[in-house]
Amino acid sequence: MLMEIADGIATITLNRPKALNALNTAMLNELKEAVLAAEAAVEAAVLIITGAGEKAFVAGADIAQMRELTTLEGRRMTMLGQEVFQIIENIEKPVIAAVNGFALGGGCELAMACDIRIAAENAKFGQPEVNLGIIPGFGGTQRLPRLIGRGRAKYYILTGEMIPAAAAFELGLADRVVKAGELLEVCREVAGTIAGKAPVAVRMAKRAINRGLDVDLASGVAYEAEAYTTAFSTADRVEGMSAFLAKRAAAFQGK
Ligand code: CAA
Repeated sequence: MLMEIADGIATITLNRPKALNALNTAMLNELKEAVLAAEAAVEAAVLIITGAGEKAFVAGADIAQMRELTTLEGRRMTMLGQEVFQIIENIEKPVIAAVNGFALGGGCELAMACDIRIAAENAKFGQPEVNLGIIPGFGGTQRLPRLIGRGRAKYYILTGEMIPAAAAFELGLADRVVKAGELLEVCREVAGTIAGKAPVAVRMAKRAINRGLDVDLASGVAYEAEAYTTAFSTADRVEGMSAFLAKRAAAFQGK
């Protein structure tokens, strides 16, 4: 696992390119540590997660490791993956998946746990677990239908068919598709744009969207009102509105 922080952006790179960055339990634990470290780092406002090499973001959970596991160990692994991906989904800082190639199985699930997915033209998504006698186990059966609808999610999970980047964009699985050589640059640009906004507002927006998708509409809008009030209570709210009226750029302070 590699992590660097520059210009307010933490970039985490899954670094096992020979196995197409397949996730074993050691990598899942390292990913968890890296994400928690990035969340705690005051100098980072936004995270980017990507894969090393030109070919893969993450080609899934490590099949060689999984083949040797007992049922109980398999259960522990799925729960570890779910835990790490829920941490990614729920940390306060926004997380961008820079999908630089295959995002299959656990890789697709990792991308879906991120807030925004930006894919290289050559990226391929998919949940091919049925080929292996299992089902998606790091949240795929839950997050894919939430992102693309239950019919399409069933189609792709039951057939195991891969989803090329352009189709992923049409489905709402990828939020932008860019040239492979420009992927990290575009992700840094988007991260920089978000990092320039009022930090508490960004955090509250992420939280309200996440929370609202898990509850009924009335509870969701009630939560939105609380998150809105928190943003409204900040000095950055006064600064943002004053800057707009004075036709100048806002200088946010994160409070
Ligand atoms: N686990 C372990 N090793 C993997 C892997 C995985 N998920 N994916 C690829 N690798 C390894 C290959 O075994 C190969 O290793 P060797 O060089 O030692 O033989 C190396 O990475 C390169 O892969 P390929 O030679 O297969 O490369 P390719 O270009 O021919 O094919 C691919 C690329 C289509 C992505 C193919 O590797 C593939 O289908 N990978 C498996 C994808 C998959 O089924 N993912 C789901 C895993 S299950 C899961 O994730 C469960 C869950 O939800 C928690």
